[in-house]
Amino acid sequence: MRVTVIGSGYVGLVAGACLAETGNEVVCADVDERKISRLSGNDLPIYEPGLEPMVARNQSEGRLRFSADVDAAIRHGKVIFIAVGTPPGEDGSADLKHVLEVAASIGRNLNESKIVVTKSTVPVGTAEKVRAAIRSHSATPFFMASNPEFLKEGAAIDDFMKPDRVVLGVDSDEARETLGQLYAPFVRTGNPILFMDIRSAEVTKYAANAMLATRISFMNQIAQLCDLVGADVGMVRKGIGTDRRIGAAFLFPGPGYGGSCFPKDVAALIKTAVDIGMTPDLWQSVEAVNARQKRILLERLTRRFGGSLAGREVAVWGLAFKAETDDMRESPAIPLIEGILTAGGRVRAHDPKALDVARVIFGDRIEYAKDPYDAVQDADALVIVTEWLVYRNPDLDRVRGALKRPLVIDGRNLFDPERMERQGFEYVGIGRGRA
Ligand SMILES: NC(=O)c1ccc[n+]([C@@H]2O[C@H](COP(=O)([O-])OP(=O)(O)OC[C@H]3O[C@@H](n4cnc5c(N)ncnc54)[C@H](O)[C@@H]3O)[C@@H](O)[C@H]2O)c1
Repeated sequence: MRVTVIGSGYVGLVAGACLAETGNEVVCADVDERKISRLSGNDLPIYEPGLEPMVARNQSEGRLRFSADVDAAIRHGKVIFIAVGTPPGEDGSADLKHVLEVAASIGRNLNESKIVVTKSTVPVGTAEKVRAAIRSHSATPFFMASNPEFLKEGAAIDDFMKPDRVVLGVDSDEARETLGQLYAPFVRTGNPILFMDIRSAEVTKYAANAMLATRISFMNQIAQLCDLVGADVGMVRKGIGTDRRIGAAFLFPGPGYGGSCFPKDVAALIKTAVDIGMTPDLWQSVEAVNARQKRILLERLTRRFGGSLAGREVAVWGLAFKAETDDMRESPAIPLIEGILTAGGRVRAHDPKALDVARVIFGDRIEYAKDPYDAVQDADALVIVTEWLVYRNPDLDRVRGALKRPLVIDGRNLFDPERMERQGFEYVGIGRGRA
């Protein structure tokens, strides 16, 4: 099938590569010419496990092309996925500027009947806006569909190739049949394609992210309670996660959720609700708990130094908002580091993948360590922000020997508090009853 993906960021690139992998003729388009020229040379602007060889293989075998000519790319596809960014507007709503720009381009280049699919995360009612924008430029018939994307950065290929489910919002047999066929190779093991109306598909994406964000904020608040009453959130997590009604996933407390999706999608859901006269108090609380959680590492660190970080040198392990990605959007590392710098402290940071991204954010205001041990050398404390595998089993004697003060503030509960204390650390986790 001829497929066009407009927007070659995380989602567009992964979707395009995976659709080419199953034999489709895919063109991925983007207005960012530099990105397209890098991608054409198999030089990926993002780190995502397994993506680079898949892109290279499909380009060399002729099924995947990259183009900065969005109009020509639109004329190529029978199915057109819109996968451009939907950043938060100033009022928290999803900014549909890019989506509607693409819709207008589709309208101007509709050379045959096509299926136009919104894959970007967009508020309920957006497919209708896209439909109207295309119609205002063209009388050629076409079909709309909504296909929200549920991939996780860091496991994106696996999530796309073996999705728990595919959600397809359709209102025509053409869209149902064509998209059903396009997705059939990805659901061979029996996971469902869920066909539904377009509005329900649009709401499903926000409901999924709001639910996951809620679980995280819920556990962060339980962790806060554990710290104050001397309980261990790790045990509580197991105690509830084994209940099949609750399930074990997404119950890890931490330094607050970040990334390009949860913060903006919860905000956009709240805005949608407020606009229609609802009171979205649950989601507002989820957001408020998260905002507080993002300050927790800085607060704990500051308290350990008697309220002042002036002149302190702090090692930070992990800058990405989670492991297995170089994405730092809304990462809890950012308010932590900015807070340390504002308080007159210094930072030496390590991350296995995100240092280049961090250089754009912090420039020469912080130091960049070549490995985790380099980061802790002569530092007054270590703060762990991201749960990278390389931080899970370090040579702790070496870490303790390198630190001026053996203080570890662990935002991911990577270590056993008793073992850390036996090894001579002053150890502070999240919800371990010791903060
Ligand atoms: N990143 C994720 O994990 C994830 C997961 C599920 C859904 N989503 C959603 O998918 C959408 C895309 O997210 P992303 O992370 O891939 O964003 P991204 O910022 O990585 O990529 C978006 C791309 O769109 C391009 N673009 C913008 N306007 C364009 C235009 N008019 N024509 C062509 N290209 C244009 C940009 O240059 C950029 O390369 C968002 O709505 C996001 O909420 C993201």
